[in-house]
Amino acid sequence: MDLLQPFLVTLILLFAVNLYECRPRISDGSLNLSEEEGFIGVTISEKGLNYARDLLVDQALQSLVPLRIPDMQKTVKIRYILDLKAKLYDARIANISVPASKIILGKTGISIIASQVQVNLSMKWKYSYKTGLIPITVSDKGRAFVQIEGMEVGITLKLDEQNGSLYLITMECGTYLKDITIDLDGGASWFYQGFVDAFEGEIRAAVENAVTSKIKEGIIKLDSLLQNLPKEIGVDGNVAMNFTVMQAPDVGPKSISIGVEGLFVTMTPDFRVHRLSNLQPGISCSGSSKMLEIALSDTVLNSAAEVYTNEGLLNWLVDKLPEQSLLNTASWRFIIPKLYKMYPNDDMKLNISVSSPPIITITSEGVEAVVIADMIIDVMDGDDTIPVACVSMTISANGLMDVSGNNIIGAANLQNLSLKLKWSNVGDFHMRFIQAVVQTLVKDVLLPLINVQLKKGFPLPIIRNFRVQNADVIYDESQLVVCTDVQYAI
Ligand SMILES: *[C@@H]1O[C@H](CO)[C@@H](O)[C@H](O)[C@H]1NC(C)=O
Ligand SMILES: *[C@@H]1O[C@H](CO)[C@@H](O)[C@H](O)[C@H]1NC(C)=O
Ligand SMILES: *[C@@H]1O[C@H](CO)[C@@H](O)[C@H](O)[C@H]1NC(C)=O
Ligand SMILES: *[C@@H]1O[C@H](CO)[C@@H](O)[C@H](O)[C@H]1NC(C)=O
Ligand SMILES: *[C@@H]1O[C@H](CO)[C@@H](O)[C@H](O)[C@H]1NC(C)=O
Ligand SMILES: *[C@@H]1O[C@H](CO)[C@@H](O)[C@H](O)[C@H]1NC(C)=O
Repeated sequence: MDLLQPFLVTLILLFAVNLYECRPRISDGSLNLSEEEGFIGVTISEKGLNYARDLLVDQALQSLVPLRIPDMQKTVKIRYILDLKAKLYDARIANISVPASKIILGKTGISIIASQVQVNLSMKWKYSYKTGLIPITVSDKGRAFVQIEGMEVGITLKLDEQNGSLYLITMECGTYLKDITIDLDGGASWFYQGFVDAFEGEIRAAVENAVTSKIKEGIIKLDSLLQNLPKEIGVDGNVAMNFTVMQAPDVGPKSISIGVEGLFVTMTPDFRVHRLSNLQPGISCSGSSKMLEIALSDTVLNSAAEVYTNEGLLNWLVDKLPEQSLLNTASWRFIIPKLYKMYPNDDMKLNISVSSPPIITITSEGVEAVVIADMIIDVMDGDDTIPVACVSMTISANGLMDVSGNNIIGAANLQNLSLKLKWSNVGDFHMRFIQAVVQTLVKDVLLPLINVQLKKGFPLPIIRNFRVQNADVIYDESQLVVCTDVQYAI
């Protein structure tokens, strides 16, 4: 049974989603995505922090129930005469309510303060004494209810980065109890005040200790959870994203920002993507009142393009078309007479490969990509595959990104296509004559294949157990920003 789970998860949200950076945007609402600070930046807004705080307080403090408190035992002097051996046992926190809480971001750390906390404890008591006058043991027992009002619980944490991971340390953790009321169930009235006087201090200390040590325990678990968050998250079987944290999170007056590297990497260890130029500060979600702002540089998309290209994942062999007759030399006998002459009525295949990474740009209108692909026309002559010509295609596509689940996804549309004959063993033929056919091929076959991948998308740096909700994507030069709420769900 892990009572601290919700507590941990909440703190994770608080400390942002596993991985990120984004420096000075807090004050001026702008991002500075760069090689030093990472190409994806996550900012948790005031609304996000308040959501985290509510989760933290509601779930974490409730998760302290029932909390056992160690037994207490002492000799109590009643009316200056009797020395009772008194014991409190089976003490547990039965209920906690937290009417008010706040989170304060400061230079020294992140403080969470719960105030006007009410705590109800139940426990059992017993006593016994011997007197010289009466040579027997006198004893009694019963239950006690302790009500604590106006308790304050405060914790100050420091969130830092080491070796590409976040870690968390407790700077301070304390409680303060104002009023404590003790009701005994049973027991003689003469016993009551002596008991209260004797045990009140101990009960206070025991509650304070129990609550603070439980919270510290939780922070240690959360810290190890943060440090063990994966630095690479697989996108599919071949490609991963590098979610290395770049710097200590930036704690501003009203938000926390974390930058992660964010680039795509292959699963093979020695391949590295090229670093592209740094980016200018850009837009932010200001005014959209969402919990999280995840800024994504176009470098991230270009690293995806580079990795997918270098891994040979942007190659397709097309042997089926909506109009299948186009894949037979007979259909081409008038346009490319030599093809038909050399290979009459043979089937054809199209070997399409992207040999240099597509160039992806983000503008305020959306995402644009220029893809240069070679289309080799293969003729199937018996068992032989004979490449007969190669057409270079320059495909311009545009599209918009969206969010589905916790992934950012996309959809591309063909904008423009230009063709050039690269080489041919079947004589020259004019691109004008094949333009319409190739355009249909790109639109109806190639882009749908690419869109299958884009529709799966890639993960946003959101911790498990949190779901993105009501996400909007906004665009600017060189970057896009996902403005979103999150919902905690176990
Ligand atoms: C704790 O107190 C709240 C509010 O007074 C109440 O709704 C809840 O049922 C109580 N829980 C327990 C375990 O007594
Ligand atoms: C604690 O117990 C008192 C008296 O039984 C009750 O009025 C109060 O609501 C309880 N507080 C919580 C937090 O359950
Ligand atoms: C730093 O991270 C790398 C990769 O995750 C790991 O192999 C290495 O042991 C870590 N070093 C320290 C000092 O934690
Ligand atoms: C991930 O990014 C960090 C920081 O830029 C870098 O040191 C590390 O080598 C990268 N990992 C891979 C697998 O590229
Ligand atoms: C497709 O063409 C590439 C060269 O562009 C070649 O390496 C690859 O083997 C070809 N694939 C098939 C199935 O013919
Ligand atoms: C399409 O590409 C051709 C050749 O590069 C160019 O002349 C034309 O302006 C482009 N059209 C659009 C709409 O971009």
